[in-house]
Order: sequence, then structure tokens, then C-alpha cells
Amino acid sequence: MAGYDSLEGEIWMDGKFVDWKDAKVHFLTHALHYGSGVFEGMRAYNGSIFKLTDHMQRLIDGGKIMDMHIPYSVEELNDICYQVIERNNLKNAYVRPLAWRGSEMMAISSQRATIHVAVAAWGNLSYAKGKEEGRGLRLQTSKWRRPASESAPVHAKACGLYMICTLSKHTAESAGYDDALMLDYRGQVAEATGSNIFFVNRDNEIHTPTPDCFLNGITRQTVIKIAKDNGYKLIERAIMPDELATFEGCFLTGTAAEVIPVGAIDDINYQDHPVVQDLKQKYHDMVNQPQPEKIARDKAA
Ligand SMILES: Cc1ncc(COP(=O)(O)O)c(C=O)c1O
Repeated sequence: MAGYDSLEGEIWMDGKFVDWKDAKVHFLTHALHYGSGVFEGMRAYNGSIFKLTDHMQRLIDGGKIMDMHIPYSVEELNDICYQVIERNNLKNAYVRPLAWRGSEMMAISSQRATIHVAVAAWGNLSYAKGKEEGRGLRLQTSKWRRPASESAPVHAKACGLYMICTLSKHTAESAGYDDALMLDYRGQVAEATGSNIFFVNRDNEIHTPTPDCFLNGITRQTVIKIAKDNGYKLIERAIMPDELATFEGCFLTGTAAEVIPVGAIDDINYQDHPVVQDLKQKYHDMVNQPQPEKIARDKAA
């Protein structure tokens, strides 16, 4: 099967562009063995990358949490990401930066390993089958739980943390679901495998779990602001699984997911809710505006 390694284009790697097929790392790379990497995911809409500065700041902050000094500033990373989409003639794209530990040390300790950075972008992004089919997603509650903030670097987009997401999503997909709902170590509702979760109750209030042991997504923060600015009552709190049947609407937020309705969690069904449709439209309108970094870039050109 032709994979992502056989797409066409150029990837920015450690300071220069290389042909797509040449963007390789050695087998004895610390990140490959020990999961020592942090990554980001952004979307470009019509040539403008949404919330780019926030994503690049999170990459650098995530690196700090992982004891990895990323050798570029936010401004330099912003410029690299734009170079990547421009060089590959992409207008609507997914942009994937990754920082990882190299091969100078092959042991648990890797203090002297070089921190590498690469950025790739591609046009077709798949998130979940249900999204491509334009219907509400069906989620299955996973047996895997998000760990406590004392047990893992939960606020970094750290490569190693995705192991339980992949396992959860594989199990859900094998059972015919689109994605998994993950509870946290306390049994509270946490998030999906690559997106945050929100619920709408019968009073049109929006409830979402407090992100104390999972990623406070940039889309999550954006949607919370949109909701508040538009007069919705938004409540962040601990949500228990036995409350799920009391909600009328449910949706996920994430860079890849955008705002996507959830049709069911296990055997609980949710409406195609007008509040979810309203937020989905408002988010769509916002991401399609030219972004400040792009406006400044065009002005300087
Ligand atoms: C585990 C997880 N939670 C939440 C999110 C949503 O984050 P964002 O909205 O910043 O893309 C993502 C995606 O990055 C994720 O991988």
C-alpha cells in the first residue's frame, strides 16, 4: 500500500527542504525507541494557517515539558510552516511539524541528543469515516484511560502519549465505531482520541470537561470563546459517564476534527442539535478568514 512516505512534494527538515522520499531518520533514533518527540497539527484554509502562532507556542512549550529545547523561535517556526505550504503549492492543507530526539545517545537518558525539527504538509486529511461521510460520529467508550498529570506529560502533544489513543481508536473502529471516548484515571469523561468533547443539555447550555489531565485544545479554546461571545452558557466541569444520557447534543473539536457532531456514544443517541450546527457554522466562518500571520507576511512581501 502506498503510504505517506510516497507522496509528492518537499519536506522541510533541519533547516533545508528535501525531496519527500528523502525525509528519513536513522533506525537508532531516540524518538523511535522511546517516544521522545512532540508534534503539532494545523490546518491551512485558502493559504492561511489557522492559529499558527498558538500552535508553534504549544510546540515550544511542549518541548520544554519534554526537556527538549526546540532550536527555533515561534516566528521562525511560523515562517517555516508558510514556506512549506507555499513551496508545495498548497492552499487547503494539514501542516505537521515534529520535533524529536536524535541518535547521539541510545539509552533512557538522552541529554546530549540533538533536537531535530521537520515540517511536512499535505492536502488530504482524514480524521474519521463518519466525518468524511458527513454524519454524526459514533463513539465507543475505551477501556484505556487518560493518565493523571503526575503520571505523564499530559499537557504536551507528546508522541508517546498517543499510544493509548491509537489502541482505543483501533478497538473502536474494529467494532464499527468512528472513534473512542476516553475517560480519565478518575473515571470522568475526558476527550476523544484526537479531539476534545462538548455536550449540550436541554436548556441549551454547553458543558465540557475541565482539561486538567488532557490537552486544552486550541480548537476547544476557540469554540469556548465563540460560544461565550454568542451568549451561550458554557460550563467547564467534571462530567461522569452516567450523565451522558441526560444530554441532547454532543460534538468534538480539534484541528483535524474541526467542529463535528457526535451521533452516539455506545448506545446513547444524540440529536443533530441546532446549537452544535450553529457553532459548527461559526467556527467554519472564523477559520476561513485571513489570519494575522498571513496578512503580515503578505504585507512584508
Ligand atoms: C489528544 C488530543 N486532544 C485534543 C486535541 C485537539 O487539539 P487542537 O484543537 O489544538 O487541535 C488533539 C489534537 O491536536 C489531540 O490530539
